[in-house]
Amino acid sequence: MLQNIATPAKDPILSLSIEYRADDRDNKVDLGIGVYRNDQGLTPIMKAVSDSVKSIAAEQTTKAYVGLAGCEVFNQSMVDLLLRDTSAYERVSAIQTPGASGALRMLADLIKSTEPGATVWISNPSYVNHQPVMEAAGLNVRHYTYFNPLTKQVDSEAMLADLANAGPKDIILLHGCCHNPTGADIRLSDWIAITELALKNGFIPFVDIAYQGFGDGLEADAAGLRFMADRVPQMFIATSCSKNFGLYRERTGAAMVIAGNIEIAMNAKAKLLQMARATYTMPPDHGAAIVGRILNDEQLTLSWRTELDEMQKRLVGLRTNLCEALRNETQSETFDFIEQHKGMFSVIGFTPEQMASLKSEHGIYAVGDGRINIAGMQEKHIEYIAKSVASVANK
Ligand code: LMR
Repeated sequence: MLQNIATPAKDPILSLSIEYRADDRDNKVDLGIGVYRNDQGLTPIMKAVSDSVKSIAAEQTTKAYVGLAGCEVFNQSMVDLLLRDTSAYERVSAIQTPGASGALRMLADLIKSTEPGATVWISNPSYVNHQPVMEAAGLNVRHYTYFNPLTKQVDSEAMLADLANAGPKDIILLHGCCHNPTGADIRLSDWIAITELALKNGFIPFVDIAYQGFGDGLEADAAGLRFMADRVPQMFIATSCSKNFGLYRERTGAAMVIAGNIEIAMNAKAKLLQMARATYTMPPDHGAAIVGRILNDEQLTLSWRTELDEMQKRLVGLRTNLCEALRNETQSETFDFIEQHKGMFSVIGFTPEQMASLKSEHGIYAVGDGRINIAGMQEKHIEYIAKSVASVANK
């Protein structure tokens, strides 16, 4: 049997990290996987997280099972963070999941179990794991136009024209903020237009929000999602604490279902729990316990928000400085779009061959689709990155 397994294609992001580690050049720079690093090149444990860990260690008395839905205090806190002050708050259910990818998969399984012929529309391009997760759940996948490679911004007109063709058996997967990979976000006017289309044509929005706080701040980053959740009868949400709490390895996320009323939402939750039982039974507790504690303690919440704001500001600063360095190197405004992009990533418009040159000739590791992780940079790298990008661009 086992000899018949076809060798699987490597994940383009995770395989890059392995290659990076094996490279012994001193000047190598990792702009691959979406991990935030500080100016010392470290991915810090946030102060609120280590304080929360300490108090859990001091107070926790058992490691007995928590339950299929994970930590309900955490689930409620995630709902509060995203949906407080919307009408959806009264008609949403949530379960804790192993990261946002776990949430994507559980929600995809839920969709497949209730609407087997459903099609999930994903942006072109999108997070590299979106299509594999949806297809692994047996769902059809289609793409909608998103990124304009010339302007490096969202092509709203073409996107809305595509989405106008979606109907009741369609699910539209949107990025809540900080679009991965492009860094180009839809504007509030687009959220409004997509909401109107959902109401008119009956498709269901599915929002993946994995970077809340990294774009324009915690509240601003959820504004589009909130507008939509307030108005549409049904919606799915996958959210993550990997980035905004720096809990990458703890696999901490949540899946939410917004329905016409709370009874339907709770029934969907019961179905999710049945499917979780058959998949991984229960999510890991540690990360959710940490977050639940932070978000239910005023001091810890303040500390977390303050540190998250600093990280967001640092990202904005890195973008500004990289743009300036690129302006100097290229004597042009070709790369000014980097400053307008949001969150960790920007697609810089390089071909896979150009990205390969960045890696082989300059030791700069970034994804072949042209995505660079701004949050992976240190100030000391900026000039080198700008010189390298300019030299590859001129070839
Ligand atoms: C990324 O896009 O780099 C991250 O979200 C890591 C992942 O899971 O792929």
